[in-house]
Amino acid sequence: MSTVKAAVFASGTGSNFQAIMDADQLSCEIVLLVCDKPGASVLEKAKRQNVPTFVFDPKLYSSKEAYEQELVQRLRNANVSWIFLAGYMRIAGPTFLRAFEGKIINIHPSLLPAFPGKDAIGQAFKAGAAVTGVTVHYIDEGIDTGPIIAQETVEVLETDTEATLKERIQQVEHELYPRVINQLILSK
Ligand code: GAR
Repeated sequence: MSTVKAAVFASGTGSNFQAIMDADQLSCEIVLLVCDKPGASVLEKAKRQNVPTFVFDPKLYSSKEAYEQELVQRLRNANVSWIFLAGYMRIAGPTFLRAFEGKIINIHPSLLPAFPGKDAIGQAFKAGAAVTGVTVHYIDEGIDTGPIIAQETVEVLETDTEATLKERIQQVEHELYPRVINQLILSK
């Protein structure tokens, strides 16, 4: 049986990318890291792991359709069948969604549908939420919408600062994402 090939999309620090790479017995091979922010620190992590990268600047394309066409081509050339978004903050358009229907997964640091979009941890902290968490879900054309696959709660402690809350949420992300990835691939 040939190995299932997958791509990770990330634009930031890449701690989730690293957690996926470090996972024991990952049921797929990460063959491509896609990044829409030239200079993002996730790129150094990819280099260290010898994962090929495709870095693009959306501003240099005439439209979302234009860069998504290239994206789809690159993913197909690499024989990618699953895509894991890990801090990729761009809304997917129909060109990308249709090409990989049911195969694009996202992780988000809140209990969706609460606190979608940017700075979900800060949003929950400022709102005084007693409980927040992490969601893994299929994506659609919305911002952090789409069918939910798994959620895990994280209690907001009296003593928490935004930084300590973020630390605990990210610890949950790093354990949850590889586990859900394995379950998904093995169940298909
Ligand atoms: C993660 O916490 C991820 O859940 C979040 O971005 C962070 C990326 O961190 N994604 C979203 O907010 C998606 N709306 P990382 O670069 O260290 O993995």
